[in-house]
Amino acid sequence: MRMKKKRHGTERIALLSQLVASEPAKVAENPSEYYGNNNPLRVEIGCGKGDFIRGKSVQEPEYNYLAIEKISDVCTVATEKYASSRGLGKMAPNGGWMKPDGTIYSLGGDCVDFSDCDRGNVRFSVGDASALLVDFPDNSVDAIYINFCDPWGKKGYAKRRLTHIGFLDMYSRILKDGGKLHFKTDNRELFDFSLEQVEMSRLDLKYKTYDLHESDMNDVNIETEYERNFSAKGFKINMLIAENKK
Ligand SMILES: C[S@@+](CC[C@H](N)C(=O)[O-])C[C@H]1O[C@@H](n2cnc3c(N)ncnc32)[C@H](O)[C@@H]1O
Repeated sequence: MRMKKKRHGTERIALLSQLVASEPAKVAENPSEYYGNNNPLRVEIGCGKGDFIRGKSVQEPEYNYLAIEKISDVCTVATEKYASSRGLGKMAPNGGWMKPDGTIYSLGGDCVDFSDCDRGNVRFSVGDASALLVDFPDNSVDAIYINFCDPWGKKGYAKRRLTHIGFLDMYSRILKDGGKLHFKTDNRELFDFSLEQVEMSRLDLKYKTYDLHESDMNDVNIETEYERNFSAKGFKINMLIAENKK
């Protein structure tokens, strides 16, 4: 995702550190410490500005969600949008954070204090999922969502695609038996490649469509920012769901 460098992005996300998991594997090891409950954990890889995870957390609130994004400034925006969507305040005129009661937290100062209930069921992590997920315990995740990831179209780059068998094997290890991978893309070549990789993996293909918005799944679909942009340009959206079999 392209984004102009944010002013004070690092300090801004530090203010909201109660919504951020700096060691995401620990979230998977001990969810109750982070969410105050042991609801099943779902992970989004490459959350961008967080439209999907915000929608999903409301649509299915009986789960906990961890949104991973490798670009720090993008994750800052996602975290701020999530906090605002929960009525926890907004960016203050001084660049810090302003709570709804008017309390201002300045950049570089104490982090904003939210109650367990205010924090809700989403946490954000900055980093490359390929490095972060390696430390997740086996069988710790209920579902993984990948929406509009980089296609890495050039020859020789296949191993970088988030649906390459190398990644699918890691997803299979951390997913519970019956856990699911949900994948959406506008890119037909990447989608066909992903179907082949799923075929080779321990995941069972349960659903696929080459036109999500005309499918029976559209009613429950949560559009992402990229999805809106691509479909406005006339691209059809492909989606697959694959189930883990241990
Ligand atoms: C094309 S954007 C899509 C954003 C969002 N999912 C959407 O559909 O609107 C892909 C996002 O994934 C992030 N990303 C790509 N590879 C990643 C990785 N290995 N780990 C974490 N984030 C990643 C990028 O930084 C970018 O923000």
